Amino acid sequence: MALREILVVPHPVLKQVSQPVEQVDDELRALMDDMLETMYDAPGIGLAAIQVGVPERILVIDLQRRITPVDDEGNEVEDEARDIREPQYFVNPEIVWESEEYGVYNEGCLSVPEMYGDVERPARVRVKWLGYDGAAHEEELDGLLATCLQHEMDHLDGILFVDHLSKLKRDMIMKKLTKARKGK
Ligand code: NI
Repeated sequence: MALREILVVPHPVLKQVSQPVEQVDDELRALMDDMLETMYDAPGIGLAAIQVGVPERILVIDLQRRITPVDDEGNEVEDEARDIREPQYFVNPEIVWESEEYGVYNEGCLSVPEMYGDVERPARVRVKWLGYDGAAHEEELDGLLATCLQHEMDHLDGILFVDHLSKLKRDMIMKKLTKARKGK
């Protein structure tokens, strides 16, 4: 496994539309392993292949379950809390249904470092995809997973979370980013 470089706005490749994967093979799995390692290292909860410069319809997501042990008196011991990794791989993901009900999350993105904004998306989606072994899946997702998946799927069509914000807010974020980069 190897770390890959994460492209950051305004890199033009991030605007590219990714192509469907024809076959889930060892080469593709090696890419997914790299993507996952890169995402953990960043750290982030989701990454699309285009963010490491590969224009193929592939995502990795890991929301990591936080386990907090409880002491004898039933109090949570925050110091001993740890995150359990639960990687999920989505090849050629496709939304086949979305709820009329919407949810709002304060989203961020590894390609728009340290910037956040509220984005409204369908609260639940039904998704079809191929897994790490190439097997077909179909499931209804909700909560943070539904949001994260839609955010990552946007990347496959060259869309960033900032594209969902008002022009004013987007311009503000881009300006801050340019300034931060100059400061380095
Ligand atoms: Ni993103």
